[in-house]
Amino acid sequence: MDQAQNSSAAKPAQYAIFEMACGYWVSQSLYVAAKLGIADLVADGPKTAEELAAVTKMHGPSLHRVLRALASKGVFAEDGEHRFGLTPAAECLLNRPGSQRAMVLMMGEEHYRAYGELLYSVETGKPSFAHVFGAPIFEYLSNHPAQAALFDEAMTGIHGAETAAMIDAYDFAQFGTVVDIGGGNGTVIRTVLEKNPNVQGILYDMPHVVERARPALEKSSVASRLKLVGGSFFESAPSGGDAYMMRHIIHDWYDPESLAILKNCAAVMRPDAKLLVIDAVIEPGNGPQFSKFLDITMLTMPGGKERTEAEFRELFAAAGFQLTRVVKTTSPVSIVEGKKR
Ligand SMILES: C[S@@+](CC[C@H](N)C(=O)[O-])C[C@H]1O[C@@H](n2cnc3c(N)ncnc32)[C@H](O)[C@@H]1O
Repeated sequence: MDQAQNSSAAKPAQYAIFEMACGYWVSQSLYVAAKLGIADLVADGPKTAEELAAVTKMHGPSLHRVLRALASKGVFAEDGEHRFGLTPAAECLLNRPGSQRAMVLMMGEEHYRAYGELLYSVETGKPSFAHVFGAPIFEYLSNHPAQAALFDEAMTGIHGAETAAMIDAYDFAQFGTVVDIGGGNGTVIRTVLEKNPNVQGILYDMPHVVERARPALEKSSVASRLKLVGGSFFESAPSGGDAYMMRHIIHDWYDPESLAILKNCAAVMRPDAKLLVIDAVIEPGNGPQFSKFLDITMLTMPGGKERTEAEFRELFAAAGFQLTRVVKTTSPVSIVEGKKR
């Protein structure tokens, strides 16, 4: 890299493009550190790359170069004795609940390889994930338990911060029972119940997902108010809810599959029950919005899309719902509320 490339003041547009093009330099270095568990290995004090390489069976000088590069981004810090220690950013890689480790691993493995074939998706309109891995993502996960567990955990890493924002923005206490359709590891419905002691919940997801979530949920403080139901939302939905909430479900699918999910909910919903689709709503214009790239993840991974308010309105109408309002939150997601027509 020459001096000009390194100087954002000299050539801001060129530098910005260069940095964008090289984003994977950082993401793959982060992936290696997460995969090797470096944060946990230095949690009790800083260590040299040689010490870390001995434990992880890596090549010391090369590991040193990766950690030095990450330290230049604030992930780990090297001291005067060439030992690497934790920083606030590196702590996000610790193997503990709520960390970003699973997200970094998932991004560095399947997502990285599927994104490598983005051009295939743009050429065909089909998800490159299935092209690379030989099966649609949720079928692949049902046959790869370790990756599936990582996926459930990664969802909390990616979307976890949205939970508090959606609970702040919307009154869940008005409902007797909230059904979380495709609720994954149950952290969303669990938090809704923790914050609303009079509400009952139903977690609905594929049987293997629900069974992975069961041990932690049965030990939680909301266990007596939370029912776990395994099944496919393409076949049916549990009855008895006052609200049918689905966060980051509809964006995983194109309209035909989304309509099937919504119609299965409509079939069991009482006339006064509410539909709560929690997803990003794409804003018009060129402004930055996290969801515009999450949309590319939907293109490549499951084969779905982020939608505008008009697109949600049309989808709701086709499934027999009326879109009643869009409640914004302080996070990238909004609550798109509907009722049966
Ligand atoms: C993007 S994740 C969202 C998880 C959770 N709602 C959240 O916001 O963190 C999509 C979820 O849909 C679930 N899912 C996929 N296909 C399903 C199906 N056919 N029936 C029920 N759930 C399904 C997945 O297991 C996964 O938990």
